Amino acid sequence: MIAKIVSFVVLLLLIHRGSSSDGGQCVYQGFSTANLTLDGLAAVTPGGLLALTNATFQGKAHAFHPSPVHFLNASSSAAARSFSTCFVFAIVSAYDALSDHGLAFVVAPTTNFSASKAGQYLGLLAGINGTASHRVLAVELDTIMNPEFLDINSNHVGVDANSMISEQRHAAGYYDDASGGAWQDLQLNGRKPMQVWIDYDGLAGQLNVTLAPVKVPKPNKPLLSVSVDPSTFMADTMYVGFSSATGVVLTHHYVLGWSFSLDGPAPPLDFTKLPVLPRVGPKPRSKVLDVLLPLATALLVATVLAAVLSTVWWRRRYAEVREDWEDEFGPHRFSYKDLFHATNGFKDKNLLGVGGFGRVYKGVLPASSLEIAVKRVSHDSRQGVKEFVAEVVSIGRLRHRNLVQLLGYCRRQGGKW
Ligand SMILES: *[C@@H]1O[C@H](CO)[C@@H](O)[C@H](O)[C@H]1NC(C)=O
Ligand SMILES: *[C@@H]1O[C@H](CO)[C@@H](O)[C@H](O)[C@H]1NC(C)=O
Ligand SMILES: *[C@@H]1O[C@H](CO)[C@@H](O)[C@H](O)[C@H]1NC(C)=O
Ligand SMILES: *[C@@H]1O[C@H](CO)[C@@H](O)[C@H](O)[C@H]1NC(C)=O
Ligand SMILES: *[C@@H]1O[C@H](CO)[C@@H](O)[C@H](O)[C@H]1NC(C)=O
Ligand SMILES: *[C@@H]1O[C@H](CO)[C@@H](O)[C@H](O)[C@H]1NC(C)=O
Repeated sequence: MIAKIVSFVVLLLLIHRGSSSDGGQCVYQGFSTANLTLDGLAAVTPGGLLALTNATFQGKAHAFHPSPVHFLNASSSAAARSFSTCFVFAIVSAYDALSDHGLAFVVAPTTNFSASKAGQYLGLLAGINGTASHRVLAVELDTIMNPEFLDINSNHVGVDANSMISEQRHAAGYYDDASGGAWQDLQLNGRKPMQVWIDYDGLAGQLNVTLAPVKVPKPNKPLLSVSVDPSTFMADTMYVGFSSATGVVLTHHYVLGWSFSLDGPAPPLDFTKLPVLPRVGPKPRSKVLDVLLPLATALLVATVLAAVLSTVWWRRRYAEVREDWEDEFGPHRFSYKDLFHATNGFKDKNLLGVGGFGRVYKGVLPASSLEIAVKRVSHDSRQGVKEFVAEVVSIGRLRHRNLVQLLGYCRRQGGKW
């Protein structure tokens, strides 16, 4: 608990140091101290995440840098200034297989999006095309396929210039420089943070969009490289920020960090200073448990095995043969276990003598402390056993002061009699 509080304080300090804004440039490593212009479902969580949506149905959300940016080149009436931005986002759905609508980076002349629609319009426009009074340049991270907007799939990136029909779109992914520029798919709503870079060359009118998992450096080859005439969307003062909308699947759209710059590359984000996403699904198992659980399991298995083995061993050690006909001799039947203990396990020390038919051991019955002699007799065949036992028992009924009394018998199969 104490460690948690301390790290929280450190995080706040870093955010404070990391967030700066001077006209054409801003850096947000988390949004705890940011003064964004928010509307709709958008909010900044106590942990510093910009939560555009919060698992509410059919809602929309906007978050803008509070002051407008001067986009037009004062020394040229035609050209817009270049800009560059990068941000880290995550789309976290409550359900594994279901997708809700995505989010978009927006450049617009106003922060008043009250007329825009939720759902597939991503809170950007009120119809398929923008109007003269409602213009917008957007880079959409779209997680639903809308045929009316000519979407290619439910996991794509598109550049929208004043229309929901993208100028160009591409399936989400990146060209991985670490493997020679090989294509790698990415799942936009995969609950993992991803970074987007958007670079606009005002003179050439070229807009590049690049996507990568966090910690992967910016790939050399952009995902999209689109010609966008600045006159389709540009006004002198424009707001930059984010737009998102929800449909019917409970989904959170988060922005973890964001930087923006005019006339130069956006300052890189320091991933170590970004807020962490809330945990989804079951709590990850602790390391201690990872070690203890197999150990405890092994111990349990060993204990059970030992118990089973010892039970089997004891059973075999004291195993007897008992048949129905012996019931009538009940009182004369002794358990092998008692005889075993009485004679100290038939130790040589207890041996009284070796007769014609077997060895005789001295012993003391544990229950009655009665001194006894036990003779171990081998009887090969099953035949005659009954008669033999009957004989033994009948001898047992004889009493004479010159005779040792015969108390009873026990039967056992095989073994070392
Ligand atoms: C989502 O945000 C809106 C606006 O801030 C709020 O009214 C609503 O209660 C929130 N819903 C949840 C589920 O947090
Ligand atoms: C936050 O931004 C608003 C404009 O959206 C401005 O009026 C206000 O002074 C700003 N507050 C701070 C603390 O910068
Ligand atoms: C503004 O436009 C002039 C002339 O087209 C160009 O030389 C200059 O580089 C532009 N400045 C920016 C910041 O784009
Ligand atoms: C926002 O725009 C709508 C029309 O789209 C307008 O009715 C409303 O007054 C505007 N709100 C503000 C605060 O300007
Ligand atoms: C949207 O604008 C495009 C030209 O940019 C036009 O072809 C299309 O018909 C328009 N669609 C609607 C519904 O206005
Ligand atoms: C966009 O990408 C192309 C192709 O990689 C590159 O030549 C161009 O310089 C890039 N433009 C910007 C503004 O990054």
